[in-house]
Amino acid sequence: MRHLISITDLTKEEIDELIELSEKIIANPTDYQEVCRNKKLATLFFEPSTRTRLSFEAAMLELGGSILGFSSADTSSAAKGESVTDTIRTVGCYADIIAMRHSKEGAPLAASMKSMVPIINAGYGGHQHPTQTLTDLLTIQREKGKIGDITVGFCGDLQFGRTVHSLISALLRYQGIKFVLISPNELKIPGYLKDSLKHHKANFSEHEILEDVIDGLDVLYMTRVQRERFFNEADYVRLKDSYILTLDKLKAAKKDLSILHPLPRVNEIAVEVDDDPRACYFRQVLNGKYIRMALIMKLLELV
Ligand code: NCD
Repeated sequence: MRHLISITDLTKEEIDELIELSEKIIANPTDYQEVCRNKKLATLFFEPSTRTRLSFEAAMLELGGSILGFSSADTSSAAKGESVTDTIRTVGCYADIIAMRHSKEGAPLAASMKSMVPIINAGYGGHQHPTQTLTDLLTIQREKGKIGDITVGFCGDLQFGRTVHSLISALLRYQGIKFVLISPNELKIPGYLKDSLKHHKANFSEHEILEDVIDGLDVLYMTRVQRERFFNEADYVRLKDSYILTLDKLKAAKKDLSILHPLPRVNEIAVEVDDDPRACYFRQVLNGKYIRMALIMKLLELV
């Protein structure tokens, strides 16, 4: 039985297969509408979510399966003090596969050790978010026609943004990626990730000003400042408006730049950018449903 806790639990070949399967599902969705008949997905969200939870649920429904779960810790027995592992052992009696989100970094791993069914990490703490990374990789593939030989800018909260951490770990396996890391000094990528970039001899640079580097980017991955991970509100308030992408700033960017964002957006991309063809973030949302369909099929050994 396979779980997905960290993006590196999948080999690059497996990721490429998931991307390929997603493309097939996109081309012929009706071929897959019975694949998960009589299968159940549980979504256990101890932390807030819109896209990740609903895209998992939509994915399972489109595969002909059913869904159950909760969308906040307050409405589960976690509020009574139940451990994550007890919750998982219980839900494993009702569901064939579980997607879970938790604020504690070790929670999905601990859950997977006790689980009778596959566990998918739907984001934990400020660390990893592998299914968002699959979504991002499918989006890069569809927008650029390849994942490799491109310059990818990451902008915003690179310290606490778990989607950034997972995506950098994944992109390190592809050839010719140039990483341009743009953040305030206080929100640079964590030390372990910088070590990993160095260890892989990756081509990377760190910057504080987006305008200094925007013209060289093929992909711009914007992120929000992660308010919930700050220890004090004053620091958040000081840093929250560090980057606001506007049409004016985009004048210097390439005509075929692809702007990604895991969403939710706060104010780091002005709404006026949404109608620019370079804005990919709502197409990215849709890709998230398809790659989760592919992932559910893989973990349930239906492919
Ligand atoms: C991200 C997350 O939860 O880490 N959202 C998502 O799943 N698409 C990004 C964020 O919350 O900023």
